[in-house]
Amino acid sequence: MEEIKKKVMLSGIQPSGELTLGSYLGAIKNWVERTDEFDNYYFMADMHSITVRQNPSDLRRRTLQQLAQYIACGLDPEKNTLFIQSHVPAHAELGWVLNCYTMFGELSRMTQFKDKSSKHKDNINGGLFTYPALMAADILLYQPDYVPVGEDQKQHCELTRDVAQRFNGIYGDVFKVPEPYIPKVGARIMSLTDPVSKMSKSDKDPNGSIHLMEKPEDILRKFKRAVTDSDTERCVRYDPETKPGVSNLMQIYSAVTGKSLQEIETEFDGKGYGVFKPAVGEAVIETLRPIRQEAERIMKDKAYLESVYKEGAKKASYTAEKTLRKVYKKVGFVER
Ligand code: TYM
Repeated sequence: MEEIKKKVMLSGIQPSGELTLGSYLGAIKNWVERTDEFDNYYFMADMHSITVRQNPSDLRRRTLQQLAQYIACGLDPEKNTLFIQSHVPAHAELGWVLNCYTMFGELSRMTQFKDKSSKHKDNINGGLFTYPALMAADILLYQPDYVPVGEDQKQHCELTRDVAQRFNGIYGDVFKVPEPYIPKVGARIMSLTDPVSKMSKSDKDPNGSIHLMEKPEDILRKFKRAVTDSDTERCVRYDPETKPGVSNLMQIYSAVTGKSLQEIETEFDGKGYGVFKPAVGEAVIETLRPIRQEAERIMKDKAYLESVYKEGAKKASYTAEKTLRKVYKKVGFVER
């Protein structure tokens, strides 16, 4: 019987800081839940990370730790192609080509560029600006159907679609035009200390974000201290406009327990924030505990990690190079 070809999913995370609860709930959890349905490619976006200055040994350590965390979160390397972006040269190669099909005006409108260039005023480099063309290359090389990301990456995914359509419009159907795949709950986890800003790997305030490798006592302390709202109501009710702090905690609790927002309101009806906040902390601790323990174990096995990323790069290169060859031919490069 002919094998039915699975649809393809692809995504990546920059090893530019410790993975947070936001990266997990907005992205990785979604990848894991869909493993069996799709043909999957997940990578460590180390080339993107250097658009902001990194300490080289930290970047190396975090890239490997991120791979261990992917596996610990449930991404089985047998069912997912796990690789390091810089190990597949086709990313840089297609990235250059797509730079020539991405407009200055489009790049100027990217929120991530505006945000990062205002945070790193002394280093507004070309890579930071053209980053979305490399991200389009990361995606289009694998002809994916879906790109599972958090809400903040939607704009980059839309630009990828525009670039793909522009290229296809000139040269015929070279790229599949992928769709972003954004979770219903957890697509935008906010800082625990400033619930109108996104929880981020590069947050300067350590109390705002939860890291996947964090100790249970620290997680609990941060949730107990999480900023709730200054309204007089003091009840657990979902209303992101007037109660961003509580609503963020409800999103987190919902994402880790699977309970609906309505069920959460009922569960904590008549109970104050003093009961609600530690309950969210405990639920997060129980979700992260096995991930942390497994990641710590895998991190010690360097030979295993190496075998996974080498095999991943081999598989990824095979797919990526097929697309790159097609593109080079279309634009008129002489065959190698
Ligand atoms: P990055 O590294 O900033 O984030 C990785 C993933 O985690 C999601 N995420 C969040 N989701 C919910 N709440 C949060 N607070 C939160 N913080 C992060 C992000 O939406 C993302 O899905 N440009 C990308 C990396 C990248 C990529 C790609 C992604 C490079 N090439 C190709 C997909 C496909 C980035 O900076 O994500």
